[in-house]
Amino acid sequence: MAKTILITSGKGGVGKSTVCTMLGSALARQHCRVLMLETDCGLRNLDLMNGLENQVVYDLGDVLLGRCEPAKAILKCPSCEGLDLLPAAGSTRFQIPAGTLSRLISGLRDFYDIILIDCPAGFDDIFDAVMDVSDMGLVVVTPNLISVKDGAKAADLLVQGGIKEGRLLINMVPRRWKPTEALPDFDAIIDMVGLQLIGVVPVDMEMGENLNRGRQVGLYSEGVEVFDNIARRLRGKWVPLRID
Ligand SMILES: Nc1ncnc2c1ncn2[C@@H]1O[C@H](COP(=O)(O)OP(=O)(O)O)[C@@H](O)[C@H]1O
Ligand SMILES: [Mg+2]
Repeated sequence: MAKTILITSGKGGVGKSTVCTMLGSALARQHCRVLMLETDCGLRNLDLMNGLENQVVYDLGDVLLGRCEPAKAILKCPSCEGLDLLPAAGSTRFQIPAGTLSRLISGLRDFYDIILIDCPAGFDDIFDAVMDVSDMGLVVVTPNLISVKDGAKAADLLVQGGIKEGRLLINMVPRRWKPTEALPDFDAIIDMVGLQLIGVVPVDMEMGENLNRGRQVGLYSEGVEVFDNIARRLRGKWVPLRID
């Protein structure tokens, strides 16, 4: 039965889809059967990031409207054996029919070890529906006060929604991050969000550019190593956190 992990942030553009893709492939390399389920309807981009842009025929919208079976819409990612993607609906106007998303996720749990749900920015009905069936919330922030405040809001909502396991991922940390009065160090970010830290991801321009072009990220890149360790921590392994 899959562990379902909701990836959220509040603020857009902080790297949720990047985290979903990189973490998904790291988990699959560690022999987990992984489904990435993209719920950002109209702003689909996991297909592009995973080299599948021209292969989407059916999407989450078709599945939720009963136009096709989930298996028809789920694509196998070329980057890694065991990594699947259910792409979001293409239309911004798509409204998820009540109850259908949580039912779908519950039904898919038997076929995977981990389901990663890439949520839209903000906290709407989709966030609520996904929260109902998630075991863990992964809150992504960047070292920026607005993003951290939004992340704190996300963490509060996860607690209110009854999600017992929450983790914080700090993304896009510049090599020479200049702390500010409001965010003097990583501890300040952890205290504001109030969740256990699972990883710190540096700015990795090569990783970002490769994903934006649907190319595989080189296995020896910095980003890959960081996500391999985050995947191990998610699987309950002890891997020391390097923050420097
Ligand atoms: N660690 C990182 N290093 C470099 N670029 C990144 C990193 N994380 C995200 N990006 C880039 O930031 C932009 C927004 O990321 P994305 O994953 O689409 O955010 P979101 O899903 O939260 O809107 C993309 O261009 C992506 O390539
Ligand atoms: Mg996204």
